[in-house]
Amino acid sequence: MERVSEPLAKRYRVLVVHGPNLNLLGEREPGFYGRTTLQEINVALERLAQARGAELRIVQSNHEGALIDALHEARHWADGVLINPGAYTHTSLALRDAIAAIGLPAVEVHLSHIQAREGFRRRSVVAPVCVGQISGFGWRSYLLGLNALIDLLEDRSSERRGA
Ligand code: DQA
Repeated sequence: MERVSEPLAKRYRVLVVHGPNLNLLGEREPGFYGRTTLQEINVALERLAQARGAELRIVQSNHEGALIDALHEARHWADGVLINPGAYTHTSLALRDAIAAIGLPAVEVHLSHIQAREGFRRRSVVAPVCVGQISGFGWRSYLLGLNALIDLLEDRSSERRGA
């Protein structure tokens, strides 16, 4: 007999990537990024993942190469990627190429509304290789992004099953 208290089987595995300076969330320019810390965001993401039957691995780095290595590794285990590339959003062709290379669906998220800020922030070089972008909802952007990614993975798996 199925036990209702049993945790949901983990159906999807998601790499969560936080780029440079996001380790300072909570104290960093709160007018743009709010007072929520990265740890609090990660706890909220883990809670949502648990409720939706997903397993997360979470990485934060201030180093471009470390982010790229984490993306490369994800091709061996992950079903999708949730990524806030920080300022690399606007500059890193290497990060963009890594997302394209691994061929996993990636959702780009930003706490601030990048389209409403300085000109250099309005262009995302990673957006064309992501399935979508969520921006401007503070820490909730991450939860919206994770929900969107899991919805997409569910759609793809029911398409594969012919449902
Ligand atoms: C950010 C927006 C970027 O322009 C900025 O460099 C960041 C954070 C955001 O989440 O709003 O570091 O990605």
